[in-house]
Amino acid sequence: MKTSRSAVRARLAALCAGLLAAGALLAAQALPAHAADAPLRDLAAAKGKVMGTAVTGSKLTGTYGDIAGAQFSSLTPGNAMKWGSVEPTQGSFDWAEADRIVAFAQAHGQLVRGHTLVWHSQNPGWLTNGSWTPAQLSTLLQNHIGTEVGRYKGKVSVWDVVNEPFNEDGTYRSTLWYDGLGADYIASALTWARAADPAAKLYINDYNVEGVGAKSTALYNLVRSLKDRGVPIDGVGLQAHLILGQVPGTLQQNIQRFADLGVDVAITELDVRMALPADSAKLAQQAADYKAVTAACVAVARCVNLTVWGFTDSDSWVDSTFPGYGAATPYDASYAPKPAYTAIAQALGGGTTTPPTGACTAAYAVTSQWNTGFTGQVTITCSGAALSSWRANWTFGAGQQITQAWNATCTQSGSAVSCANASYNGTVPDGGSVGFGFNGTWSGANPVPAVTLGQAVSAAARTAP
Ligand code: XIL
Repeated sequence: MKTSRSAVRARLAALCAGLLAAGALLAAQALPAHAADAPLRDLAAAKGKVMGTAVTGSKLTGTYGDIAGAQFSSLTPGNAMKWGSVEPTQGSFDWAEADRIVAFAQAHGQLVRGHTLVWHSQNPGWLTNGSWTPAQLSTLLQNHIGTEVGRYKGKVSVWDVVNEPFNEDGTYRSTLWYDGLGADYIASALTWARAADPAAKLYINDYNVEGVGAKSTALYNLVRSLKDRGVPIDGVGLQAHLILGQVPGTLQQNIQRFADLGVDVAITELDVRMALPADSAKLAQQAADYKAVTAACVAVARCVNLTVWGFTDSDSWVDSTFPGYGAATPYDASYAPKPAYTAIAQALGGGTTTPPTGACTAAYAVTSQWNTGFTGQVTITCSGAALSSWRANWTFGAGQQITQAWNATCTQSGSAVSCANASYNGTVPDGGSVGFGFNGTWSGANPVPAVTLGQAVSAAARTAP
């Protein structure tokens, strides 16, 4: 004889089936056509590299968030971790944007490059306007590094500890730090950062050090002497804010000589600016420039990370900093990939074939729901395209929380959910589908989110050379 509980369950199941039949709980979104090729982060991973972008925390939603999450495996806060951002008033901290970027990165399986701890620019007014003894300056800097690195210990895996220490001729730049503490402010900062998070990789970062020259040689000599002295230094960041057609011919050689010192190298802030307006010839030259930089990094094993300083022309520092110049990033201001995007993909070994015209879509359905819980199902279907791995991303709109998932690995950070294929169901053939399920909690309302697909590898991309 049926217990009353199973009778209730049966009635609920019937109710849910009815709701589903009405199609009320379905949402689907097609992969944008340009994402049919493998995302840059997957192409980079296949070469042993990390592909990064600088981001603005407040923009990490919608298309900007989708691209940032799907295409990149590393995020650098463009401004959010600078001293002036995190401690605008002495002793009063604002971590909101930095925290948001870190949470987004965790939800999307990305690492974070912390930028930057010691710099002459974008410091808070109270710091630059104060008059400090060397001992006070030293204490301020030590506390700043300890506080910020300590806060993100285990979450920020790489720090640009010191930014832009050199003049063009290779002498030390006169700054608050150099003038007050001497050149050893660099060694002190690195040592304090190591103490605050022994696992984080510590970098010195500068611009106009991409090719062999007076400035890069000064950086080279500094890194060599720091290593000789046993000061912790793990890597060198070459910013690479480049001008159209001016990739230094000695870029790869320069990367190699730093690698030969026993440190990692990262291209940390790549952009290629051009005199506006852009035209097809300039965009083609820009593509060649991006390709040359990417290829130089690919050619050196210890070049571990290639980061663009903003991925879209709508989020670039160039236009306001270099009047008359712009269009410096791989996506235009409307998020359409430019020739530079394709050039990076190709230099990372991506397909040169035309992407298939078909698409893969993800459909989200609530398959059953009870007073505080629900079961959801996401089905990924391909037609005219295929996937060899996938990641389904969505944002819950009403505080829902995933408690358990099967046939996928799901992480949730705030309202952002990201589910990656299990080892056995990454492949979605053309004309086929795979699904995964999860249990969650809800209260008040359980609206259906739009699901976007990332980390998708198309059949065309897989067969390309
Ligand atoms: C830039 C930001 O992108 C801008 O938004 C800000 O107004 C100025 O700083 N080198 C660096 C970066 O190390 O921190 C700079 O970022 C660009 C140059």
